[in-house]
Amino acid sequence: MITVEKLVKEFGNFRAVDEVSFEVKEGEIFGILGPNGAGKTTLVMILATLLKPTKGKASVAGYDIVREASNVRKKIGIVFQETTLDLELTARENLDFHARLYGMEKKERGKRIAEVLELVGLSDNADTVVKKFSGGMKRRLEIARGLIHSPEVLFLDEPTLGLDAITRRKIWDYIAEARKDTTIVLNTNYIDEAERLCDRVAIMNRGKIIALEEPKKLINLAESVIILEGIGFEKLKDLLENYRYVLSGNALRIYTKEGNRILPEIISSAIKKGVEITSARIEKPTLEDVFIQITKKWAE
Ligand SMILES: Nc1ncnc2c1ncn2[C@@H]1O[C@H](COP(=O)(O)OP(=O)(O)OP(=O)(O)O)[C@@H](O)[C@H]1O
Ligand SMILES: [Mg+2]
Repeated sequence: MITVEKLVKEFGNFRAVDEVSFEVKEGEIFGILGPNGAGKTTLVMILATLLKPTKGKASVAGYDIVREASNVRKKIGIVFQETTLDLELTARENLDFHARLYGMEKKERGKRIAEVLELVGLSDNADTVVKKFSGGMKRRLEIARGLIHSPEVLFLDEPTLGLDAITRRKIWDYIAEARKDTTIVLNTNYIDEAERLCDRVAIMNRGKIIALEEPKKLINLAESVIILEGIGFEKLKDLLENYRYVLSGNALRIYTKEGNRILPEIISSAIKKGVEITSARIEKPTLEDVFIQITKKWAE
């Protein structure tokens, strides 16, 4: 459904997207996971034909994003990172306006508006002015709007940014529902969101895709984590230099494939150096650990 080959976007001499290549299959939810400034929005804006690439090639739904941009636009829906709803209009009016832009007939518009409002649980708020909506309701309405013309591909740029835990889960349910008819590309900096929703996840950092796998396989790639809690871990600095680790507050996380061998060694050095250890355990990695490990590795 999407192919991307060595795509580059430069702003001046800064590379926001740096030779990115990947493919998205029909029906897939494809996640792009990365920290702030990784290049996720820039990449999606290029695929949605709203920015021109500096170099490289891409096609969406069978059309070239540069030469056949207007065909691409008919096939896609997009939910931007920042809200672009008209706050003075009702939910229905917002959707109707968008549907007209796509040249949908009146009868079809009415039917489709009812369907997408139902999908995101806003049927009862159809005639409410959007400025009275909560953040979560606005987000749901934007997803509905992205789907109004039954696009083949839906781009979602951080669909749950800043929302509470319950609202996020609801939005995940709507996205899972939408995927039945639509291929979805989802930008996120939430690891749980990528893990929960995506069939495959590309981890993006500083313009590059540094890993691309099913979430479960990504986790298997990773080392296990030794988690030590206590006071005075700075005293182990020399020893820790041999490992990949993160020290934050009272918690020390060490990434290793040999947790069982290393843990006793660390604990005995800690005791010798007068570090106070309050707890020690070895955990299977989470997607977050993978993320920290590979972004750190890449930065070295
Ligand atoms: N129009 C622009 N001109 C110059 N630099 C830009 C422009 N747009 C984006 N950038 C830079 O490109 C980099 C990638 O930005 P982008 O918005 O794509 O990141 P992102 O992964 O979406 O981040 P976030 O999670 O914060 O949304 C950033 O360093 C940003 O400052
Ligand atoms: Mg962004």
